[in-house]
Amino acid sequence: MARRKKIYEGKAKILYEGPEPGTLVQYFKDDATAFNAEKHAVIEGKGVLNNRLSEFFMTGLAQVGIPTHFLRRLNMREQLVRQVEIIPLEIIVRNFAAGSMAKRLGMEEGAALPQPIIEFSLKDDKLGDPLVPEEYIIAFQWASQQDLDDIVRLALRVNDFMSGAMYGVGIKLVDFKIEVGRIWDGDFQRLVVADEISPDSCRLWDLQSGEKLDKDVFRRDLGNLTDAYAEVARRLGVMPTNATHITKPTLIN
Ligand code: C5P
Repeated sequence: MARRKKIYEGKAKILYEGPEPGTLVQYFKDDATAFNAEKHAVIEGKGVLNNRLSEFFMTGLAQVGIPTHFLRRLNMREQLVRQVEIIPLEIIVRNFAAGSMAKRLGMEEGAALPQPIIEFSLKDDKLGDPLVPEEYIIAFQWASQQDLDDIVRLALRVNDFMSGAMYGVGIKLVDFKIEVGRIWDGDFQRLVVADEISPDSCRLWDLQSGEKLDKDVFRRDLGNLTDAYAEVARRLGVMPTNATHITKPTLIN
């Protein structure tokens, strides 16, 4: 039987060689990990939801002129994406204090920040994705100063779009992580949003109740993760309104 070539397997996704040069197939697994993979579970239906939600956000970004690697969704768990050269940084944008920032600075979770704050972590599982200052990034040539300026602009545009999209459905975007990739166009590079945007990589709180609708539900054992993600999908209109809990693959258009 023919097998396709696996390019990379991460904690929540697999990348396969795509049907044309310069493309990849991004497969969303059901695996959930936290605390640098110390905590792990397989949560049925999570991959289907994240595939759908990431498609929704990436398509929305493209519609407002923010370039991404996304080409099209192929099926319930897979999407076709452009092959990019990933910049080895996790770009985190924060609107409210939470998670590692709240802990590091002794802040109350949910405290509004005076302005969106962007921070960078080195993508390195062995080191636990350490926070790195811009000076390290430039000195070790993970990205140039020009790249960083472009990344900050891109991340703030993503923040504006995502904050508005979520606010419109009664959800506060507390923080999120993106990854950025380079695409070469002859001698010129373009930076695009890559990887995924989903409740795995955002903090999403209900505006009224403060209920968490993101991966913190898994990290902090707060309830059923797919119920939380399905609620986000339902509010955004990317899932049938009656789908609250996905127990097995469900055909969605
Ligand atoms: O843990 P921390 O507070 O630094 O996370 C900030 C944001 O970045 C959260 O939305 C979290 O889900 C996301 N993140 C991520 N992948 C990581 C680290 C953080 O998606 N490896």
